[in-house]
Amino acid sequence: MNRKPIFAANWKMNKGPSETEDFVKSLLSKLQGSNFNSEIVIAPPFVSLAKLADQLHTATAVQNAHAIQIAAQNCSEYDSGAYTGEVSVLMLREFFVHYVILGHSERRSIFGETDAVINAKIKKAREANLKPIFCIGETLAEREGGKLEEVLRTQITGGLKDVSEKDLAEIVVAYEPVWAIGTGVTATSAQAQEAHAFVRSVISGLYGADAAGKIRIQYGGSVKPNNAAELMACPDIDGALIGGASLEPQSFFEIIRNGTQSA
Ligand code: 13P
Repeated sequence: MNRKPIFAANWKMNKGPSETEDFVKSLLSKLQGSNFNSEIVIAPPFVSLAKLADQLHTATAVQNAHAIQIAAQNCSEYDSGAYTGEVSVLMLREFFVHYVILGHSERRSIFGETDAVINAKIKKAREANLKPIFCIGETLAEREGGKLEEVLRTQITGGLKDVSEKDLAEIVVAYEPVWAIGTGVTATSAQAQEAHAFVRSVISGLYGADAAGKIRIQYGGSVKPNNAAELMACPDIDGALIGGASLEPQSFFEIIRNGTQSA
């Protein structure tokens, strides 16, 4: 199955507009002349979306830059109205946002997002034709307690409840074991591959083998330039969702380069 790898930078609560500008200039100069057969996505904080959109638009027009897609890190499950602090999917569309990260473990554990909330956000995102990057993953206690498969199955089934096969085709899944996020501990490629194959099998059970074969599943959790190639060489790993190492243009670039070569 030919799945185009997708490398997404999740900046979390880092980089306002001016740092975003510096980063993009530097990344574009590194990408100049290269033509990786992969998709590149940047998810800045909301307040930096306008700057990112502006710069990418100018860069694409001026120098035929490697197309970079824009992602938001969250969206509201509501359309508009009295929801202080929230941002709607239609507002995101105005900033040329194509992807939205949903269900990240930090949103689940710190902000209390449940599978039902994540499911509502996924459906709202699809109404506006945004592509969800749907994150799932187990804690260390869950893994050590033998609950890996149960946790993943529950998150997948809950998050994708009543999502059509047509909409599934526009979703990217990100498997991010919580114990590997920001810890410097990466899942071994064998652990990651095993989990990814399981995720694909659950999706196959829900939507059939064809849909499962087409969906892209990113790995996230301490991805670095020196482990990207090995992870991306695994048959069921189709890219990476990168936190810490995406904050430096050089390491993000090296992850894309090393990962694309082995994918
Ligand atoms: P790190 O790459 O910093 O471990 O973060 C992973 C992550 O949470 C990406 O969404």
